Amino acid sequence: MTLFPPGFSWGASTSAHQIEGGNVASDWWYLEHAPGTFVTEPSGDACDSYHRWREDLALLAGAGFNAYRFSIEWARIEPAPGAFSMAQLDHYRTMIETALELGLRPLVTLHHFTNPAWLGAMGGWAHPDAPKLFARYAATVAPILAGVEHVCLINEPNMVALFPVLQQGGVAALGKELPAIDQASAQGLIAGHDAARAVLRDALPDARLGWSVAAQTYHPAPGAEELAAVYQAESEDLFYTASAGDDWIGVQAYTCRRVKAEDGALLPDPRWDAKRTITGWEYYPAALAECVRRVHAFTGLPIIVTENGIATADDTERIAYTQAALDGLAEAMKDGVDVRGYFHWSLLDNYEWGSFDPTFGLVAVDRQTFVRTPKPSLAWLGGLAPENHLDPAISPSTPPETTNPIASSTAERN
Ligand code: BGC
Repeated sequence: MTLFPPGFSWGASTSAHQIEGGNVASDWWYLEHAPGTFVTEPSGDACDSYHRWREDLALLAGAGFNAYRFSIEWARIEPAPGAFSMAQLDHYRTMIETALELGLRPLVTLHHFTNPAWLGAMGGWAHPDAPKLFARYAATVAPILAGVEHVCLINEPNMVALFPVLQQGGVAALGKELPAIDQASAQGLIAGHDAARAVLRDALPDARLGWSVAAQTYHPAPGAEELAAVYQAESEDLFYTASAGDDWIGVQAYTCRRVKAEDGALLPDPRWDAKRTITGWEYYPAALAECVRRVHAFTGLPIIVTENGIATADDTERIAYTQAALDGLAEAMKDGVDVRGYFHWSLLDNYEWGSFDPTFGLVAVDRQTFVRTPKPSLAWLGGLAPENHLDPAISPSTPPETTNPIASSTAERN
């Protein structure tokens, strides 16, 4: 039996735009409806969690989890520059208080991919004022974060710095040479991280501050090692360097990245025979352990796994993937990697940035009625939390029945 340290966080993750619905003041909403957009499907009502968040929290707590990672939406809180909504601040404060009452330690993300549309129109993170505008938003939300132990300042800055490149070059560029991130955006995100951290250090001396990076584990073909290392340094490691002085770092890992070198360029080199998930990513649960080991060696910071999961329609496969990822995580922890929590991506089947097709959730959501139906993986993963161990007796191929009353009643309604 593998024991996790006392106080370990067992949670699930979500982000506002992907579940709330109606995030009309955000740049993503604008992009989803722009003429000729590359976004195939708009977010619409998403999971309607803006109204159903109490049910979502209850499902998580009822299944045994002790933590919840969610994001607060800058575009709702500041829909026009400098115009802050007291009602939205109150909405998120109520969520935080309810999570605490339910025994769910909230890990709150301040920025998860979306900007207010007005910031997008200014050029987003590449605009020289972006860091101070983000710090002003952080100062405004600080009072509602009282009692929050961990704050994630920005989700996956390395992906956010890639968005402008993908938008300009089109998604068609993917699959060809690995694109360089937009350096102006990267520098803006780092400056924004620093500025918001300074503000929150003063306002919330007890909060532990950090951010979450999309961690990659590269598997270069012979001859591509050096190019892969340079690419990783320029697109990912700069954000680890910028984490010095943070209290923790978030690792988000899903798959491995196989690459090859051709004419001095780094290209994807997918294994033709690999098992794949709905997103097309290689089924590779060892990614989590490989990434936490690398991030530990690089930063030395306490790690929280803020995302890990799989897009699959087969919940037995989700449990098998997660069990294997957790086994690897436990091995890494035995070897001295300091991991403080595991947050599964995601609580709900949600809006996966352009499509509802990839189902990452522990809970299914009916697209018409928004009825939540817990999958066996919810009870399985939540069941690990109170025991705080990986019990080999719980076989991934025989997930336990859902026993939590809230989950069962929701399932019956369907
Ligand atoms: C993001 C999530 C996303 C998930 C699966 C991460 O890159 O933070 O928003 O849904 O991966 O693609």
